[in-house]
Order: sequence, then structure tokens, then C-alpha cells
Amino acid sequence: MNLIDKMIQRAKANKQRIVLPEGTEERTLRAADKLLNDEIANIVLIGDPNIIKDKTQQMGLTNINKAEIVNPKEHSKKAIYIDLLVELRKNKGMTIEKASELVEDPLYLSCLMIKNGDADGEIAGAQNTTGDVLRPALQIIKTLPGVKVVSGAFIMYTQTPQYGEDGILLFADCAVVPNPNAEELASIALSSAKTMQSLIGVEPKVAMLSFSTKGSAQHDMVDKVKEATAIAKKMNPQLMIDGELQADAAIVPEVGKSKAPGSSIAGNANVLVFPTLESGNISYKLVQRLGNAQAIGPVLQGMAAPVNDLSRGCSVDDIYNIVIITANQAIGLK
Ligand code: ACO
Repeated sequence: MNLIDKMIQRAKANKQRIVLPEGTEERTLRAADKLLNDEIANIVLIGDPNIIKDKTQQMGLTNINKAEIVNPKEHSKKAIYIDLLVELRKNKGMTIEKASELVEDPLYLSCLMIKNGDADGEIAGAQNTTGDVLRPALQIIKTLPGVKVVSGAFIMYTQTPQYGEDGILLFADCAVVPNPNAEELASIALSSAKTMQSLIGVEPKVAMLSFSTKGSAQHDMVDKVKEATAIAKKMNPQLMIDGELQADAAIVPEVGKSKAPGSSIAGNANVLVFPTLESGNISYKLVQRLGNAQAIGPVLQGMAAPVNDLSRGCSVDDIYNIVIITANQAIGLK
């Protein structure tokens, strides 16, 4: 059974409530219809019920009537969510007037539903930018205890089974933190190790990437990676992690042996932690395009409940798959 089939079985056995705030968007409706047909999750669509009804009729979707539809302008829990938002953000100057406007924004409403225990996870981004999807989640749902930053990982299914875990590697951060400091980078490494363990089910071997291997170059950027490695080791002494390593020393056994002799993971890493968002984001796209790898994500990690962001160019299958992943993250967090 491949990884996605295993995740489908897990999701079906413990159905999660997944909220889709872009509930009138056509790819989202098609994915929701398929997910409901396959009984993978309980779907909550946010949007005007009349628009959803008209669109689904035109599109010939027959399963959407099994979804819960929440009209952001008018629903039974509006006052509860306004109070909740004021309470959560009162130190940031949130007023009842401002909260009353924000709860009608589907991206805020979905996070408030999760915070109030009315949904288990959210997916958006087919119509909205990454920043607009993440901001309410960071403000309302926030990070797991002990986690410094939310970050975004890609599960890379490469065509090169000699590397990583039979060709599967996790890349992070490719989506959120532009220039993490050493503490934040250590936090990204620990979250990535957890994602590898909980979603892929294999022992993480984490490489902290740099343009230097074990002192081959001197620079402030190299020092940051060394410091992050030391912090992560201190926070989780059991974790198999090493750095600073160049990418070849991290994944190619012969290069790992020669450049980082004695390293526990050099040459065999399956989790690659990039020093900046630029390097992570550029790398995953190049491996995807030039290396024909399948890139699944970004899977957001470190949030107290799973929220995942789509690319605006996403397909129906992308939405379907990320709902399965989100449901599995939600199960893993319970
Ligand atoms: N983890 C946890 N909390 C965070 C994080 C984080 N990574 N970033 C911001 N926050 C919190 C802040 O502490 C703040 O909380 P508070 O209001 O309770 O004090 C709140 O979120 C808002 O913070 P701001 O810094 O004001 O938020 P801002 O809108 O400036 O930035 C964002 C947050 C949207 C994540 C920003 O860092 C960003 O745009 N990152 C890049 C996203 C991106 O464009 N990625 C590339 C495309 S994705 C792809 O290609 C797959």
C-alpha cells in the first residue's frame, strides 16, 4: 500500500471535520464532492448557500448536499465567534466592531471554527495568497506549545530511490519564514522531523543544509546553521540530526563519508532543512521541474491545528490530496 493509500485508510477510519473557506470556488467544489463521495472527511464549505447550490447543480455534483454549508454573513454561532476573536486579540486592539467585520471573512471564520472546536483543519489558497491564508491562522490558532515558528514542508517523491527514504525526502522550510534566526531554524528542524515521523512513518535523519560542510567555509550564514544544529540537538538529544552539511554531503553516501566522516546521518539524510526560505523554495521547485519529482505540500507544521495552503494554480487532485494530509495531521495531533 503506498503512502497516500495508507493516509486515506487512516482518514476514513477516523473522519475529521475539514473546513474549506473558498466554498464557492469550482476546483474546491469538485474536490469536496469527490471527498464526500469517497467518505474521506466531513466537509464544511463556507460560502453563500445559494451560489453553492447553483454552481453544484450546473456542475452536476451530487454529493455536496452531504457537506455542512456555513453562510459567513449569517449563521447561529456568529456572536460566539465575535466574542472569541475579541478575547483572543484584545491585547492587539481588537474591538467588537472590527471583530464583527472579520468574522464575515471566510479565512478568519474558518480559523475561529477550529479554535472553538467546530472543525479540525482548514485548507485554502486556491483563490487567496499564502500570506492571507496564514495570517489569521497565525493570529488565532497559533503554534503548538514549545514551537517557535510555523513552517512549510514539501514531501518530495523523487525519481531517485538511491536517495532519502527510497526516493522520498522532506524539504523545509519552503513556504513561510523568510530568514529564520538560529532558534527558529532549530524549531523548523524539530517540526520537520515530527512531520517525517508522523506523516511518512519513517525515522527522520535531519540534515541542516549550508554551502559549507563541517567548517569548509566561514561565514555568518554558516555560523547560524551550526548554532541551529546545536540548539536542536539540545532540545531533542535523541534526534538523528547533523550540520552544517552541503546538499551532496547530506544525501550521497560516498560524499558524506569523505566530507563529514563520523557523521551519523551524512549521506543518508531524508529530511533537508534549508537555511532560508529562498533556498528552500527555489530548491523544491527545481527538483520538481528539472528532476520530475512530485512535490506534495506545503504541509504546514508547528500550528496547534492543521491549516494548509494551496497554490492558486492548484488542481482538483491537489486539493483532494491536501485534505487527506490535513485529516491525517489532525488525527496525529489528537
Ligand atoms: N510562525 C508563528 N507565528 C508567526 C509566524 C510564523 N512563521 N509569522 C508570523 N507569526 C505571527 C506573529 O507573531 C504575529 O502574531 P501576533 O499578531 O499575535 O503578534 C502574527 O503572526 C502576524 O505577524 P506579522 O509578522 O505581522 O505577519 P505578516 O503578515 O507580516 O507575515 C507571513 C506572516 C504571512 C507568514 C509572512 O511571513 C509571509 O508572507 N511569508 C512568506 C509566505 C510566502 O509568500 N511564501 C512563498 C510562497 S508559498 C509556495 O511557494 C509554496
